[in-house]
Order: sequence, then structure tokens, then C-alpha cells
Amino acid sequence: MFKNLGSLLALAFIGLACVCSYASPTQRNAASPGVIPVPLPRLGGVNTAGYDFSASIDGSFTGNGVDPPLGQYPHFTAQRVNIYRIPFGWQLMTPTLGGPIDPVFFARYNNTVQAALSSGPNVWVIIDVHNYARWNGQIIAQGGPTNDEFISLWTQLSEKFQNEPRVIFGIMNEPHDLISVPTWADTLQQVVTAIRNSGAENYLLLPGSSWSSAEAFPTEAGPLLVNITNPDGGNDRLIFDVHKYLDVDNSGGHAECVTNNVQVFQNLVNFLRENGNRQAILSETGGGNTESCFTLFEQELRFVRDNFPTLAGYTVWSAGAFDTTYVTTVTPFTNGTDQPIWINAVVPNLP
Ligand SMILES: *[C@@H]1O[C@H](CO)[C@@H](O)[C@H](O)[C@H]1NC(C)=O
Ligand SMILES: *[C@@H]1O[C@H](CO)[C@@H](O)[C@H](O)[C@H]1NC(C)=O
Ligand SMILES: *[C@@H]1O[C@H](CO)[C@@H](O)[C@H](O)[C@H]1NC(C)=O
Repeated sequence: MFKNLGSLLALAFIGLACVCSYASPTQRNAASPGVIPVPLPRLGGVNTAGYDFSASIDGSFTGNGVDPPLGQYPHFTAQRVNIYRIPFGWQLMTPTLGGPIDPVFFARYNNTVQAALSSGPNVWVIIDVHNYARWNGQIIAQGGPTNDEFISLWTQLSEKFQNEPRVIFGIMNEPHDLISVPTWADTLQQVVTAIRNSGAENYLLLPGSSWSSAEAFPTEAGPLLVNITNPDGGNDRLIFDVHKYLDVDNSGGHAECVTNNVQVFQNLVNFLRENGNRQAILSETGGGNTESCFTLFEQELRFVRDNFPTLAGYTVWSAGAFDTTYVTTVTPFTNGTDQPIWINAVVPNLP
């Protein structure tokens, strides 16, 4: 969805209860080199944006990205945050479609990921390809990049992060206006298969349609995505990625909240429980510094908290390189004080 930025850069960036068995965090699967992560704890945290400035909703990208301030990781982790989502533009990671990862950008990105991971012993990171299922205006496998070109990105990232079990692979941010949802589900299946065959056992976040809509998931993409499997036929560590805002048009572009989304998340929880006891993460949500959001956003996050493990947790949109005037900013003030919305709605619902 649109996340019109305020003053920063003056850029119009658009912004199981699982009964599976798990190995210890350091045990390796005999068939593959990747480390098998532990079950997800209850997660609560924040997006640290910047490497997605300026990604457009049509999947085009300009600029060189902005490094999120590293001091935010110890700042938030000291408050019990245990997950950070770190978006990036696909074009920054592989300047040529289907080509190699740019080592200069990767060093920047990895430095930030490591700062987040090392801010606490149990901190998780979502690496998020912030491209709306697109590259330069065209949809993956629906007129745009081939599945193999997209898979090339993910197999390279898998090699780099498969020994970091607390790195979660956010396969794609906010697919929207897809020509075919079944074709998107097929793309996701191919990516999952390729990532697993490359050896990575990390958690994978699978996004549905309509901007990763939590509301549409049970009826649009969910029935297809629940059938995506690992090469062994199971669905261990395949988690659904959902977004939801609380303003009048569900865009996150307004300071006032009009809903607590509890019915939306109850419907999602029911669907997930009825379809194999699966899990989802709310990786984007947020509200302004307003009384309506202090109340409604707190209620939403409390519902997410209370529905663990079906809802594994959330990452609020957004801190990072956003300035302190952005409409749903949770970037701390320069004096170190947190935003009122953070203090009122998020802190009470951290793990
Ligand atoms: C990421 O940075 C860490 C810490 O410097 C380093 O140990 C690791 O090898 C880097 N990852 C890659 C894939 O280069
Ligand atoms: C998902 O798989 C189940 C079991 O194989 C099947 O009955 C169902 O039709 C599939 N759903 C979709 C949407 O393909
Ligand atoms: C920190 O800065 C914010 C924004 O200017 C202000 O509202 C707050 O009172 C300041 N807090 C302290 C402790 O100085």
C-alpha cells in the first residue's frame, strides 16, 4: 500500500501450534548444510526501513537506499523487541535482473542485519524484498521477470544466510494487482523448492495477494498458499506474511485509526487453525500519534499477542531511516525518547 513519506528526502516512496519436530539451533540436516532454526518464540518488533528508499509500488527503484541508524537496534532490543524487518530494493541487491548480488550493497545490508541480530541473543531478522512482486513495472512470471530470475536472487541469499537460523526470509513485500493469484502461488512454490534445495532451512514468509492483505488471505491467496510444501511434502517453517493498517483506507497513510481489526484477525486465526494449524506474522501495521490509534492499535496488537502461536507476532511500520514526522513513524526522537504511539500501543504488547 501507499506509504507516502513526509519530509525525509522528499521522496515519494511508497512505501501452530506446530506439532513439527525441531532440531536444536545448531544441528544440521544431514541432507543439507543449512542450520535448522528453533520454534518461533512470540515475536514483537519493528521495521527498520531505508534500503527500500525509494522503491515504487510498480517495482521500480531509484537512489542508493539509506542505511537505517544502527543505534535503534540496541535501543529497541533493550525494551524486549525481538524481531526486526529490514526491507531492501531488489535492484540494490542485484542491479542486473537475474545477475549476481552486488558485493558492495550486500556488505552494507549484512552489516545492518548483523547489528540487529547481535543486539540480543534471541533477536530475529526478516530480510524483506520490497518489490511488490515486480521489477520495473512488470510482475514476476506474469509478463515480467521469469521465475528463474527471481529464484536466482533467493538462492544467492540462501547461500549467504543459511547458517543464520534467526534470519527469516521475507520472500516478497505486498504483491498487488496480480494478473493471476494461482500463478503467484506457483511462483512461491518454485521459490520454496529452490531455497530448500539450496540447503537453507530458515523460516520462509509467504505473502498472499492484495498487498499481503490479512483480510483477503482466507478467501484469496490462503487456500492456494496452504498447499505450498517443502520438497519433503511437509510445511515446516513455511509461515504466511500478512499486512494490515487501521486507517480509513487501510493504507497506513493517515494519522487516525478507525478500526482495531480484531474481526479481521479472528477470521485469519480461524482460517489458519482450520487449514493445518498454520502460522502467520503481521509484518506491517501501524498508526499515528493520535488518541484513536493509542486505543485501537493497542487493541490490535493485544489480539495478536493473545493469539500466539497462530499469530507468531508483528513488526510495526516503521522506524529506521524515517524521520520523526512520518505519519506512522516510530523512530525515536534525537533525545532518545520514544514516539507516543510506540509507548502507548506497542510497548505494552512486546514479548
Ligand atoms: C555478514 O557479516 C558477518 C559479521 O561481520 C560475517 O561474519 C558474515 O560472514 C557476513 N556474511 C556474509 C554472507 O558475508
Ligand atoms: C489443496 O490441497 C488439497 C489436498 O490435496 C486439495 O483438496 C485442495 O483442492 C487444494 N486446494 C487448492 C486451492 O488447490
Ligand atoms: C524529547 O524530544 C521530544 C520531541 O521534541 C519531546 O516531546 C520530549 O519531551 C523530549 N523528551 C525529553 C526527556 O527531553
